[in-house]
Amino acid sequence: MRNRKITSEERAGCRIIVLISGRGTNLQALINEAPRLGFTIDLIISSKAGAFGLERAKKHQIPFKILEHQFFDSREDFDEALSIIIDEKNPDLIVLAGFMRILGKKFVQHFHGRMLNIHPSLLPKYPGINTHQRALDAGDDIHGVTVHFVTEDMDGGPIIAQESIKISPYETGETLAKKTLKIEHTLYPKIVYLFASGRLTMKDGEAMLDNKIIAPKNNQFNS
Ligand code: GRF
Repeated sequence: MRNRKITSEERAGCRIIVLISGRGTNLQALINEAPRLGFTIDLIISSKAGAFGLERAKKHQIPFKILEHQFFDSREDFDEALSIIIDEKNPDLIVLAGFMRILGKKFVQHFHGRMLNIHPSLLPKYPGINTHQRALDAGDDIHGVTVHFVTEDMDGGPIIAQESIKISPYETGETLAKKTLKIEHTLYPKIVYLFASGRLTMKDGEAMLDNKIIAPKNNQFNS
């Protein structure tokens, strides 16, 4: 049985914080879709002062903060400062969108069940970086993207959704990056919307949709 239908007013009450480090094309997709899907971006935090995503924040008049790790003595200190900034806003959801910092155990536990990440591979294949080239080097036929809840295991939290593409014989790392990014831009806002609607949760280490454990089937959200 599905959860009760959530009204658009309630969805608009879902306030998110987006964490970035770079160009922010996923951030842009979220900005574009937020009014239609009824969530609000309260704050953008960048781990890089020069991140182009900050230009997007300015253009759309969304508050932003910069938190660079080189000004902190330790990873723990950085995480602590980040969590203080986030807690001040008390968001419903934290969305990692190209955030290039590994977050420590304490931080991740503090925001348990409230943090999403998008990763450019079909996890558990190719956690970490250079995912497109690694898929090509391995001679894979398919590649894709994954959205998952964030846990202490880097790129290893419960999978919410995956979408795949065929790898053609002429593919390069660049063409694959372009194709997967296009998928990310439609998939990520949909998943945030599901969370905002109260349908997507994490329980006992499992991603749940409408109170049922999600068994991610390829492209199940691609409609
Ligand atoms: C995307 O490929 C995403 O999957 C990964 O980092 C990249 C961010 O790109 N986590 P952008 O900054 O959103 O353009």
